[in-house]
Amino acid sequence: MREEFLAALRDGYSQSRIIGRKILIYDLVTSTNDLALMLARQGECEGTVLFAAGQTNGRGRLGKKWVSPHGSGLYLSAILRPRLDLDQASFLTICAGVAMCKVLDGLGVENVSIRWPNDVCVRGRKICGILTEAEIRGRKMDHLVLGIGMNVNASCDELVEGATSIKEELGRKFDLTDLGAIILRELDQEYERLLSGRFLKILEDFRQWCDLCAGTRVKIAWADKELEGFVVEFDESGRILIRKDDGTVERVSAGHLTKIA
Ligand code: BTN
Repeated sequence: MREEFLAALRDGYSQSRIIGRKILIYDLVTSTNDLALMLARQGECEGTVLFAAGQTNGRGRLGKKWVSPHGSGLYLSAILRPRLDLDQASFLTICAGVAMCKVLDGLGVENVSIRWPNDVCVRGRKICGILTEAEIRGRKMDHLVLGIGMNVNASCDELVEGATSIKEELGRKFDLTDLGAIILRELDQEYERLLSGRFLKILEDFRQWCDLCAGTRVKIAWADKELEGFVVEFDESGRILIRKDDGTVERVSAGHLTKIA
């Protein structure tokens, strides 16, 4: 994969302004997010992206495992150092979700949607997961690692139940290098929009892709908390606003969401 990546870098990635300005390629790692967090703590620059052909301990949100069959998916982590408040970190998940929907839509995958906050699905089956992990210095965000796992050429029997892949949806395999380049370009464009403060534009796109709309009744569970109510809106930090039955509105930044019919 390395040779192809380096060639593609010369041809196209160099157009990337921030995300992908430096690319590190690995064969098998525990988790690209773990490695990226370690490098970020050691001062690795903003925009460095780590790709691995496989992961032995790919991680998802809420302690879940990200199944990472070797050579059939894209597993990447970007090191970012945006000047954002810590409570805006989850907006990066929104931003990446929008970018991944655009990538999949552009490939011809139909019925792509975002299941808030970080799953990209096709007809309710997960095709891509996003794991954003921020670390602080003092009271400010020092760095953030944006991890993305995309099921590309895996068959359903290699994936967890309820998941799908680009191959399953389109009936053909994709070149991981080409797809990696497309993902970096799209991510970089969304990140650029974020850095220039165009949060509302990103939110507008997010609403288009998100499978939730105002008025949907949902239940959200996180840690040892749970709440139920109607979706009001998403705010500029990517949090969801829920109107509870007592009329009060609560903002939630992450959790397991279930729609209630
Ligand atoms: C989720 O579904 O909750 C998020 C899954 C994120 C998986 C990606 S794969 C690359 C990066 N490394 C990890 O260990 N996790 C992310």
